[in-house]
Amino acid sequence: MKLYFSGSQRAAIAGLFVVLLPVFLPNLFGPLGRASPSIFSEWNAPKPRHLALLQGALQGQFSVQQQSKLWSPLANQGWKPCAKPTNVPLPENSSGYIQVFLDGGLNQQKMGICDAVAVAKILNATLVIPHLEVNPVWQDSSSFTEIFDVDHFIDVLSNEVSIVKELPSDFSWSTREYYATGIRATRIKTAPVHASANWYLENVLPILQSYGIAAISPFSHRLTFDNLPANIQCLRCKVNFQALAFVPYIRALGDTLVNRLRSPPNKIQATKTEYLSEKKYQIGKQKAQKFVVLHLRFDKDMAAHSACDFGGGKAEKLALAKYRQVIWQGRVLNSQFTDEELRNQGRCPLTPEEIGLLLAALGFDNNTRLYLASHKVYGGEARISTLRKLFPLMEDKKSLASVEERAKVEGKASLLAAVDYYVSIQSDIFISASPGNMHNALVGHRAYLNLKTIRPNMALLGQLFLNRSMEWSEFQGAVLEGHKSRQGQIRLRKEKQSIYTYPAPDCMCRA
Ligand SMILES: *[C@@H]1O[C@H](CO)[C@@H](O)[C@H](O)[C@H]1NC(C)=O
Ligand SMILES: *[C@@H]1O[C@H](CO)[C@@H](O)[C@H](O)[C@H]1NC(C)=O
Ligand SMILES: *[C@@H]1O[C@H](CO)[C@@H](O)[C@H](O)[C@H]1NC(C)=O
Ligand SMILES: *[C@@H]1O[C@H](CO)[C@@H](O)[C@H](O)[C@H]1NC(C)=O
Repeated sequence: MKLYFSGSQRAAIAGLFVVLLPVFLPNLFGPLGRASPSIFSEWNAPKPRHLALLQGALQGQFSVQQQSKLWSPLANQGWKPCAKPTNVPLPENSSGYIQVFLDGGLNQQKMGICDAVAVAKILNATLVIPHLEVNPVWQDSSSFTEIFDVDHFIDVLSNEVSIVKELPSDFSWSTREYYATGIRATRIKTAPVHASANWYLENVLPILQSYGIAAISPFSHRLTFDNLPANIQCLRCKVNFQALAFVPYIRALGDTLVNRLRSPPNKIQATKTEYLSEKKYQIGKQKAQKFVVLHLRFDKDMAAHSACDFGGGKAEKLALAKYRQVIWQGRVLNSQFTDEELRNQGRCPLTPEEIGLLLAALGFDNNTRLYLASHKVYGGEARISTLRKLFPLMEDKKSLASVEERAKVEGKASLLAAVDYYVSIQSDIFISASPGNMHNALVGHRAYLNLKTIRPNMALLGQLFLNRSMEWSEFQGAVLEGHKSRQGQIRLRKEKQSIYTYPAPDCMCRA
């Protein structure tokens, strides 16, 4: 299911936005123009929309048995990660250098990196550490080496593909600026979406042979998931799950957050500094607490693109409609449908309130350690308050770590996303309120590690939330029934599906 744009489309659209906005709305073109709702004063503080359910949820009780079932790890499903030996040695001579320029957010760039390694292998080429483009939406200029441990990356792949940090000096002319300022023979601009291995052999190898280098851009989603040799598929997983490790400071901050989530919450309401002092966390003496990560992407872009009604009244509706008009000029298909039609089809992202009700119905109670992996919530705290009411022990980076501890990642969208990714992988349970690249990446990675991951049944929830006369017990029964087989059961990859979301069977073996 796809609720909004893929990274490359978004990038293109955001580019368009940057170009068009000053023309249409010169007064809005400022640092706050895109994200801040307050300058439009476009929402009346969103109120809970499902009050009856909320009452039920706040009073809900679950037996100890139900609780322990909810938190128990997944049983062995008969699959384990496996890197089948590739049997294809490093070529004696490299056929040349492959350069890629990757757009999108962190998770889209990760897929691009995995595909770039695979393409280098197909061509017996040497890969140059990929260049990460600045994302126009999130404005983060972090480079590969600021996010990923580059020596680990090269080392893990050293038997498979040769990788260099930089081009040798005779190729130093081959830069992003060089390709941005003219038509160049070494630039591959026409790689089709999901291109085959043969396409690369026919179109890129000759360039490598003639010039010793080929720069591929755009490169997002440019390698097929089907009909590739098993060793290439395996290599993609090896890159994704083994070679791509975050830099030490991201891992250290992630570990700090995880340790604090695993410590018992402080009984006394302490001040923040006290709360953050290490003394309060007595790891090892008490049983480690379990925690769930909720990935909540609910930004204005997504709210506007979905064209659903999120309860912020007429002002919000108008503001979102205006945003759609400015950015997509009426090309948002969803806006042809009514809110009810969209909900019935499960095409509306869950609001923080709705995901809270879902969690409560699944059996998470008010003692749950909930980590909120989220960038910016459209509507701010007003929109999150119902979720917080249900889960008073909800935490995030800011509540768990001090300003000093967060200094290195603050304001950098990719690094913040990396920290959230790292914490998400370590959690007992992961759930995402909206499909998207982060959701898919974690669904895949956690499947690979056999970790519990709840996938909301959007169509079911849309229908349940539309029914205003539903009692809590009925809602809960329907939610439990509708999510029995959505907790991390292995789903085998089907044709055209992403190997990064469905690593079995290509990257996993029968145990
Ligand atoms: C790559 O190298 C392998 C092993 O040396 C060889 O079998 C294969 O044909 C080469 N492929 C290309 C495209 O050069
Ligand atoms: C590798 O390159 C060297 C030097 O150009 C050449 O002598 C050798 O034959 C090449 N090996 C292969 C397998 O092509
Ligand atoms: C959880 O809810 C119960 C009542 O259902 C209440 O007694 C208790 O204080 C709540 N705990 C927290 C941490 O809010
Ligand atoms: C709403 O839920 C109630 C109780 O389950 C049910 O009887 C009713 O048919 C539902 N209404 C609609 C429109 O689905």
